[in-house]
Amino acid sequence: MEQKVLILDFGSQYTQLIARRVREANVYSEILPCNVPISKIKEFSASAIILSGGPSSVFDQDAPSVDKEIFALGVPVLGICYGLQLIAHLLGGKVVPSTHREYGRAKLNVKKDDVLFTDVPVASNVWMSHGDRVEGLPQGYYVIGSTDTVGNTVIRNEKGTIYGVQFHPEVHHTDFGKNIISNFLFKIVGLKADWNMKNFIKEEIAKLQRTVTGKVICGVSGGVDSTVAAVLLKKALGDENVFPVFVNNGVLRKKEAESVQKLFDTMGFKLYYYDDTELFLNNLKGVDDPEKKRKIIGHTFIDVFYKAATTFNAQYLAQGTLYPDVIESVSFKGPSATIKTHHNVGGLPEKLHLTLIEPFRELFKDEVRAVGRELGIPEDFIMRHPFPGPGLAVRVLGDITKERLDVLRDVDDIFISMLKEYDLYNKIWQAFAVLLPVRSVGVMGDNRTYENVIALRAVTSVDGMTADWYHFPHEFLAKVSNRIINEVKGVNRVCYDISSKPPATIEWE
Ligand code: XMP
Repeated sequence: MEQKVLILDFGSQYTQLIARRVREANVYSEILPCNVPISKIKEFSASAIILSGGPSSVFDQDAPSVDKEIFALGVPVLGICYGLQLIAHLLGGKVVPSTHREYGRAKLNVKKDDVLFTDVPVASNVWMSHGDRVEGLPQGYYVIGSTDTVGNTVIRNEKGTIYGVQFHPEVHHTDFGKNIISNFLFKIVGLKADWNMKNFIKEEIAKLQRTVTGKVICGVSGGVDSTVAAVLLKKALGDENVFPVFVNNGVLRKKEAESVQKLFDTMGFKLYYYDDTELFLNNLKGVDDPEKKRKIIGHTFIDVFYKAATTFNAQYLAQGTLYPDVIESVSFKGPSATIKTHHNVGGLPEKLHLTLIEPFRELFKDEVRAVGRELGIPEDFIMRHPFPGPGLAVRVLGDITKERLDVLRDVDDIFISMLKEYDLYNKIWQAFAVLLPVRSVGVMGDNRTYENVIALRAVTSVDGMTADWYHFPHEFLAKVSNRIINEVKGVNRVCYDISSKPPATIEWE
């Protein structure tokens, strides 16, 4: 890959958004934590470097920084928020704490015509989120944009190779943010917009053919990512070298095993089925801590994969790990730090006796969906909601038993089939039911009941990093609640979760 943009992460909650915006402009980008050594940055051989925002102040004792040498590499740099302050601070300008912190909308006024502002009006809305501001510019720098409260909002050097913006062009609330990022990439750096999924598939197949020298088992979970990974690997390495393995871990949804089997049959691929329900449920017995559940499931999966690898004489294990999982597990400390160990990254043993293949380690979910479409996977499968590796284990809160799993399976089946029936499924990013570890009193017929409480969750999101609860019509909620309470024995109350992420997460555990 010749053109690639390096994003150095200083811990901003928006770092991934920067990467997405660059990719949406059809330029490949990757994020590295800001504390990687300069040698690694040089080795990356970036066409441009973007310094992200971050929660720190350049005055903090352990403020994250970067080697000044990056400004002398001859690679164009764009600093965003903290990134701008760092440029000023490291190159001899002056950063001061603001008298008032500024969050939210501000009006950007273009002060000097500049290529960065091509197709950006003289006044437009931008999104601010900062405490400090740049008061004195480094030598040779000048201002091209200001807001009412911050004079030095957009700065550049004379050569036009280093730019800094105080606001966040990567968030939707910055009206012309996309133009500003595109202007930097295409008019300032001079890149070409040629990163797309067709090219990705071509390059990835060539890479797999070059590097994989043995047989591969693919862990297929029934989700989009692992299925697309299996299909890509088959295309690259041939049926005789790739063995998709589907493990029933006892915490799957109702009829999941059958529906995945059916999909593989339709695509003409053989799926190797391992029913290890007993093994998983035994290992999970009595465990109620969510992180322990994740670790146990991750480790049990690996045991089953070792078994499968021996059967097929495989040296490689392929997984559908996505970029957000990788970033969440290795990110620079800050708001993007680890919140849950996503098992296909965090739960692997330190010494894995199989070489890991993760073709989508650098892709976002919608990019994997695009790869799936290119590979001819049916649309209704591509648009399946994400399903976590630890499955219903993190949706049966507290102790996991077969009986409780069966209750949740029946509820989930009603909820999801009704979403499809009412044409709501594709408007929602992810929907599921959670079985709570409390019981509530009810009355059915003439009898008092003391039974389970269900929480329903449905969210809209772009990539699972942030999410909002879905605003259902009341009529739908009434119908779904009625059906669940009437049809599922052991449930007498249904609640709807109206929390956004952040501060909640999508899953309850
Ligand atoms: P949270 O709950 O962190 O979830 O807001 C974000 C997205 O990740 C999924 N998720 C997981 N996926 N292993 C997975 O493979 C896990 O342990 C895991 N935990 C959460 C979750 O379903 C949502 O799509």
